[in-house]
Amino acid sequence: QDQDQGFWAKYGNYFIRGAIYTLVFAVLTVLFGTIIGTLLALMKLSRNWLAKVVANIYIEFIRGTPLLVQAFIVFFGTQILGLDLSAFVAGAIAMAINSGAYVAEIIRGGINSVPVGQTEAARSLGLHQSQAMRYVILPQAMKNIWPALGNEFVTDIKESSVLSVIGATELMFEGTVVQGASFKPFLPLVVVAILYFIMTFTLSRLLRLIEKRFN
Ligand code: ARG
Repeated sequence: QDQDQGFWAKYGNYFIRGAIYTLVFAVLTVLFGTIIGTLLALMKLSRNWLAKVVANIYIEFIRGTPLLVQAFIVFFGTQILGLDLSAFVAGAIAMAINSGAYVAEIIRGGINSVPVGQTEAARSLGLHQSQAMRYVILPQAMKNIWPALGNEFVTDIKESSVLSVIGATELMFEGTVVQGASFKPFLPLVVVAILYFIMTFTLSRLLRLIEKRFN
């Protein structure tokens, strides 16, 4: 009992700091992932074949390789290039690059889910292609895009645990630090798991609430 109180007093802050960084990574990833993903989706839907090919290669390659490998490549690759990025910056970049590919497919799928008839109707009413996209297609596409982006947010909370391998401070990494410092291999992992669950569960409930408001 005494020992356990010592555990929380000693290591509680590690977990809290880890959880905060995990949320920071997830927020940054959703933000920059959405920017990259939107650009890629527009490239893929454009009539420029070069833009299409580049976007396709990016999306296929990123989705076809593990985030684990990508994180290492960004971290050590930038070192070879002479850039001295912190694990935090390298990790955030790797996550954004990775998430962008998935977000691109979310956005493209959302836009494609709107029936062609909607475009045709808008065009026959005299709207330009870009006006039709902006006022008719996108508002309807958002219905599918929004929940999927929410899922991506939840996924990013969990996937950021991969960044522990490059030594980025986040929840999983802090868990391994506590494992080493406390000589307890099991308890820190249970704490980490519970904290991840609290974050993902709360977030998905929150997103569901917002979604209901939207509809
Ligand atoms: N576990 C996958 C990997 O190792 C990453 C999946 C990322 N998914 C996402 N929706 N951002 O590549």
